[in-house]
Amino acid sequence: MGNLAFGSDRLLGSSPYLEEIRRRGPIPRMSGVYITTDYEVCRTILRDRSFGVVTPNHPGLPKPIRWMLAKTDLGLPNLGEPPSMLVTDPPDHTRYRRTVGQAFGPKAIATLEQRIAEVADDLIDRLESKPRPDLISDFSAQMPVTIIAEMLGLPADMHSTLLKWGDSGAPLLERGLDWSTYRDAIEDLVEVKEYFDRHLDGLGDEPGNDVLSMLVTAGDMTRREQVANAALLLDAGFLTTINMLGNGIALLAGNPDQLEQLAAQPWLWRNAVEEILRYDGPVRMTGRVANCDVDLDHQRIPSGSLVLLSLAGANHDPAVFPDPHRFDVTRDNAAEHLSFGSGIHGCLGSRLARLEGSIALPALFDRYPNLRLDGPPIPHPLRNLHAYRSMPVELGVGRAAS
Ligand code: HEM
Repeated sequence: MGNLAFGSDRLLGSSPYLEEIRRRGPIPRMSGVYITTDYEVCRTILRDRSFGVVTPNHPGLPKPIRWMLAKTDLGLPNLGEPPSMLVTDPPDHTRYRRTVGQAFGPKAIATLEQRIAEVADDLIDRLESKPRPDLISDFSAQMPVTIIAEMLGLPADMHSTLLKWGDSGAPLLERGLDWSTYRDAIEDLVEVKEYFDRHLDGLGDEPGNDVLSMLVTAGDMTRREQVANAALLLDAGFLTTINMLGNGIALLAGNPDQLEQLAAQPWLWRNAVEEILRYDGPVRMTGRVANCDVDLDHQRIPSGSLVLLSLAGANHDPAVFPDPHRFDVTRDNAAEHLSFGSGIHGCLGSRLARLEGSIALPALFDRYPNLRLDGPPIPHPLRNLHAYRSMPVELGVGRAAS
């Protein structure tokens, strides 16, 4: 997940532009905002409490977005607006994160291993019956939505509705929305709010062992805070993981030498997931605002300035990742990527996402070692969330299920 994304397409675009920014220095000022592709600067800002999150009323945001948000605050659970923890500074942020932190900690996530493997195997079994499987809708999307819905205690018959809500809500984290996309997202958010209001009411009477019950029984969150963070956990829980899987499948299918290496040395799979996240992480960019004048890398960032942090740029910084544009599943320091952010807003679900990737991807390629893309995958129109909308494949001859 990311904070609000903005800037021109050039700033969000492919690596030639990122390299152009890099050439201009660690934190150049471009189109009225500071921007960095420098790994150390990104990491420092993410971890520095002199910087806070970007809220929708920040004057550095494009006027149309500020206008729309100011006109339409209906108390809806928009991921990019407070009280979503993603865009809330301490002390409220600390309170929200503490409430659900344990459910995403190492112990809790380790217990999900078997279930994730079952879901992956079941989806892989079902691919065989599809005449032209699409590995986004038939696999990458189904796996994370199933797991996060189970963690949140939401019923299986809601999966397609949850995916639809995620699809319409994701553009709210982008810049420069057109009106009809914005209106569709808001219409769906009304449904999301009504659903969670009802659902959380039910949990108030009869809490379960799920993560949403933790929000309700914490006793220190308003209903608006509960609903906003329920919606965030849901969307963050699948939107980005879908794209980690999709981007990973495209990379591996396009690099058969790397797949061969993984077949020979399967212990490298965990590192391969890190390299996928480094090389083509789903969240390209986030942002922060300086809460006071800050001196950084011999430069003064005045209080109130917006700084765009190109996570994709940081992950391709040659000072940290030698030969950064090479996809290499054996790369020693692949796991140092910033694709999950860092600091107090560092991804709450990173352990879960890593576990899902390191189970689902080997399971798919073990069963279908000759899997090939059936034409180029269709890119998702979103700019900040780097993703594919559709990925038809030829499965090739499959191995028997183990
Ligand atoms: C590959 C998959 C994922 C990627 C690339 C990813 C990426 C990120 C990034 C970059 C941030 C920090 C944004 C910022 O600092 O501005 C973040 C935050 C967050 N992520 Fe993830 N995420 C992923 C999966 C998940 C999953 C599975 C969950 C489960 C619920 C999750 C929940 C969250 C939450 C709640 C936050 C906000 C944390 C906070 O503000 O304290 N993410 N994620």
